[in-house]
Amino acid sequence: MRMVDLIQKKKNGGVLVQEEIDFIVKGYTKGDIPDYQMSALLMAIYFNGMNKREIADLTMAYVESGDTVDLSEVTGIKVDKHSTGGVGDKVSLIVLPLVACMGIPVAKMSGRGLGHTGGTIDKLESIKGFNTELSQEQFIFNVNKYKMAIVGQSANLTPADKKIYALRDVTATVDSIPLIASSVMSKKIASGADCIVLDVKVGSGAFVKSIDDARELATTMVEIGKSLNRETIAVITDMSQPLGHEIGNANEIKEAIEVLKGQGALDITIVSLTIASYMAVLGGAFYDFETAYQELKAIVKSGKAIDKLKQLVQIQGGNPQIIDDTDQLPYAKTHIEIKALKHGYVNSIEAESIGISAMLLGAGRKIKEDIIDYSAGITLVKKVGDKVDFGETLCILHTNTDDCIEAETIANSAYTVNDVKPKQIKYIYDVIR
Ligand code: URA
Repeated sequence: MRMVDLIQKKKNGGVLVQEEIDFIVKGYTKGDIPDYQMSALLMAIYFNGMNKREIADLTMAYVESGDTVDLSEVTGIKVDKHSTGGVGDKVSLIVLPLVACMGIPVAKMSGRGLGHTGGTIDKLESIKGFNTELSQEQFIFNVNKYKMAIVGQSANLTPADKKIYALRDVTATVDSIPLIASSVMSKKIASGADCIVLDVKVGSGAFVKSIDDARELATTMVEIGKSLNRETIAVITDMSQPLGHEIGNANEIKEAIEVLKGQGALDITIVSLTIASYMAVLGGAFYDFETAYQELKAIVKSGKAIDKLKQLVQIQGGNPQIIDDTDQLPYAKTHIEIKALKHGYVNSIEAESIGISAMLLGAGRKIKEDIIDYSAGITLVKKVGDKVDFGETLCILHTNTDDCIEAETIANSAYTVNDVKPKQIKYIYDVIR
């Protein structure tokens, strides 16, 4: 088999068979196929797409390129969730204790942030002592005993996806539905989940910008799940502005605590409860979504949800006092207020720009070797639809760096204020199952 013939085939709209997909993924991962040939193939896939069988084969080729997590010793239906990525997305921090409260085991592997999007593991590490590198035995023990554990993704999980994702990032081929779908689903399959809830983000801060594309991506991933015997539900949620009011690490932990205490902003509360409810349904705790949603709301109100987060922090070595006293979380020394230059209504907040600004303040990494400042980030005082007066604070930048001019400029330009009140943003657009 020759790579050039496979590129030609895809370029001409052909369908790759399983042996050809395996040849490509193995060859590229081993280094036998060079970047320039893989780039050409990715672009051919970008323009000509893949059918359902090709996407399932690509997903399995990614899974088989590395280790898979054996969760057979965990009792019960293991439910996982995955977000296609956004700014201010602290949903995992909230749903993990919530779903565990229902007695459903959540064995979560999460990533670190890179570029303008944050990572759950970095956020948790802003809690002093929190250990995200449990041994496999401890991980399984905690899931069985407490119904929850969270660790960083193991280095050898879907290495083919990792290498190809890095190439996609520099060849303008990230926003291809077959490539996103296989990348996301391979990680979930390799992590050992029985059932999966996908949070498909749509809007300016997401990889997919239109509802139609989000539906296509969601449907594609649900079908991959079905074809691989993993019951999968995809919820399409808004990312036309950052989720919640906090973007960063320690400040996102603070906001997750507020949601679990029943004091969170509406958008992050609704999205989190929706994702958690579908997880609870797939995990067999409830027959229908509505009952699950009402029960989870009651669990938040009762204080059990926040107690479960406190337990998570405690069993993974962190300081549980931060739950009652968030002032013990890292706190930046400089706070810069970005003011409105006119009065009117906030019409949009460019999520990607806010993510980039937060990264420049120290909350994220430009390259993977960068060290995170857990106290850095942005608080969005005003969100889309809010009325603002001239000189009122739109957002506050938290940092320890002295040079914040670029971050300030970007955060400033992320906001659009107009005379006309915009239409109310929907938080949940659709559910595909
Ligand atoms: N998230 C992933 O894991 N992979 C993609 O390709 C896009 C988002």
